[in-house]
Amino acid sequence: MVQTIEITTPDDWHLHLRDGAAMVSVLPHTTRQFARAIIMPNLVPPVTAVPQAKAYRERILAARPSGAKFEPLMTLYLTDNTSAATIREASASGFIHAMKYYPAGATTNSDAGVTNLERTFPALEAMTALGMPLLLHGEVTTQGVDIFDREAVFLDTELGRIRRHFPKLRVVIEHITTKEAVQYVRAAPANVGATITAHHLLYNRNAIFQGGVRPHYYCLPILKREEDRLALVQAATSGDPHFFLGTDSAPHARGSKECACGHAGVYASHAAIELYAEAFDAVGALDRLETFASFHGPDFYHLPRNQSRLRLERAKWQAPATFSFGTTEIVPLRAGEVLQWRCLAP
Ligand code: NCD
Ligand code: ZN
Repeated sequence: MVQTIEITTPDDWHLHLRDGAAMVSVLPHTTRQFARAIIMPNLVPPVTAVPQAKAYRERILAARPSGAKFEPLMTLYLTDNTSAATIREASASGFIHAMKYYPAGATTNSDAGVTNLERTFPALEAMTALGMPLLLHGEVTTQGVDIFDREAVFLDTELGRIRRHFPKLRVVIEHITTKEAVQYVRAAPANVGATITAHHLLYNRNAIFQGGVRPHYYCLPILKREEDRLALVQAATSGDPHFFLGTDSAPHARGSKECACGHAGVYASHAAIELYAEAFDAVGALDRLETFASFHGPDFYHLPRNQSRLRLERAKWQAPATFSFGTTEIVPLRAGEVLQWRCLAP
């Protein structure tokens, strides 16, 4: 049995860092293992303009643990009013790498999201011309669509419209969760990619209801059926360059998860690469971890692959029950449970 593996340092292509003291608490978990991360813009208020993204980036850089070379790759939040001029300014900035599309009301802090697809067309046209990727929270918000069907319906409706109008636009369907999405992405040309989280590789929807309601397994898009999980594992471990790592680690204070109307989001940054290693190991595919975690993402984003290396060893350790999160605390994935892999300092 393989006891250690060494891979090119990976990147996280979908991360929620939050801001202020909360961000300072969680950032070291990411910088320990990832060289870069695509930073989600769903702050309150959302990061919709280049100067806001610049200031947010500077706060992240200032919060890095000493010695960490971590590079935040910033995004802007697409709204009905994002102009082509903003896209040009973002593209010229050098530090903004993508635009994020949230259908209004789809998930945490998405109230400012897109209400009418047509209104984003000037922005999408500029993005197509400049080669800037559009990152999609791929779920419809239409009343009456079942929560477990929101992703599949999005592919057929909204994404279909976007790609018909802008076939050359580079799009990433973020945190895919269904076998329909796997099939869709696999059949798509190279300008379409998808990220996959560790929790969607490791769990199906039964985890949310194991012996009672488990709010720390509630995220959006919600965990799906076992057949969906198996399709995701197959996609991630297949070597297909459409698919790459994005944790969607989304910390929420414990009190806003463990309550009558808990927020969506799984916190996984404390053990992200270890959890991916476990998912790959479970199907005998550790030799495919590096391409998924360290090559396909930079290739899609037209960025260089990292030069440094990261080592992982097979070793059991117990994830802490909580981590501090600003003035409060977060409950991570696998809280108090055993993990199978451990990341070593390079
Ligand atoms: C994210 C969050 O908390 O910001 N939550 C989640 O469940 N993934 C928002 C998002 O990416 O949908
Ligand atoms: Zn997210």
